[in-house]
Amino acid sequence: MLTKSAEDLFTFAEDQLSALATEFGTPGFVYDLGAARERWDRLRQALPRRVRLAYAVKSNPGGPLLETFAAQGAWFDCASAGEVSAVLAAGGTGRAMVFAGPAKSARDLQAAVYAGARVQVDGIEDVQRLHTLHTESEPLAVSVRVHPASGISESSAIIGGVGPSAFGVDEEDLAVFLSAARVYDRVRITGLQVFSASNELDPGVLLANHRTALRIARTIHVDHGVDLELVDLGGGLGIRYAAHEPSLDIHTLGAGLERLLAEHDWFTGELLLEPGRWLSGPIGVYLTRVVRVKESRGTRFALLEGGINHLLRPLLTGQSFPVAAPGRGGEHTTYTLAGPLCTSLDRVGSAQLPGDLAPGDVLAFGQAGAYAATQAMTHFLSHPAPGQHWIR
Ligand SMILES: Cc1ncc(COP(=O)(O)O)c(C=O)c1O
Repeated sequence: MLTKSAEDLFTFAEDQLSALATEFGTPGFVYDLGAARERWDRLRQALPRRVRLAYAVKSNPGGPLLETFAAQGAWFDCASAGEVSAVLAAGGTGRAMVFAGPAKSARDLQAAVYAGARVQVDGIEDVQRLHTLHTESEPLAVSVRVHPASGISESSAIIGGVGPSAFGVDEEDLAVFLSAARVYDRVRITGLQVFSASNELDPGVLLANHRTALRIARTIHVDHGVDLELVDLGGGLGIRYAAHEPSLDIHTLGAGLERLLAEHDWFTGELLLEPGRWLSGPIGVYLTRVVRVKESRGTRFALLEGGINHLLRPLLTGQSFPVAAPGRGGEHTTYTLAGPLCTSLDRVGSAQLPGDLAPGDVLAFGQAGAYAATQAMTHFLSHPAPGQHWIR
């Protein structure tokens, strides 16, 4: 049975989880679009008016979810030509779109520019290519991604801290970059992007990083005479992957952003947040059945219908999704959760589950709406792709 503190990790009530597994079959993902709408509204209300929200499509590019956010007036953060097409097909527009990526192909840049998205340049090569691509008389307004030299941290390494980075222009190279960019007069830098931490649960850490972003913005404005209309703070709003973790306090984050705006009264533009995980993670569960249970040299395995071909994140980050056996009680024991692939890498975490798990039992993985279905190694071993089902 789910404990009280674990209930909200699974978006659906415990009895619904078993019913959904029967209705849709397993293995597969089930998403709750009502929960997505509710999260969007809640976050929007917690943030100052001068903070725009763009949904980071990479966290879950499902069409029904993009349609849901587009209907709520969302902006979108895209990272490929494919994501641009998905957003346009869902009713989003290029005017409400930012486009980012450390290695943009010609096709990506064309898709972003033709849609009318604000491109975030990661180096002088992006500026040169946009100068050639952009043919209209008004210069193309873009943002530059900057990788700070100091003043950033993240609790779990996903974006990468202050070390060498594939992303953006190193802060110490910014002056050289800005003067080189001036040569390309069909492109104009009018925005900054700094994104330094993902899955952060502490609003203080997020705000300290945002303070660094605004420090860099002021340098660009004051020392280099660049007018900035947008300071993009990236994503990074974290979610709980375990019952003992705290929830991110979005009201503290909102109040802190309000204070930052007041401190930087030279800045009259807008801030942008690009949350992915916070909006899409808690709206999804992954449902799979136990195929076998096996004891090997002191380790109890539950072998499941799906493994890293459906959920890769635990292997990449070392962090399990929350797992429950809906409707099952009794004494719990530790299981190593393995999938059907012929590699000992095929592990999707470990969990405390009833000691008498049996073939056919349903397991639910919570918080699985983000960085799950499309982050996995779906083609490996040619098993079928997991189903994806949307509850409206
Ligand atoms: C540029 C950019 N924006 C936003 C996000 C979304 O981050 P999160 O899901 O942590 O909010 C990412 C994730 O990698 C990103 O690369």
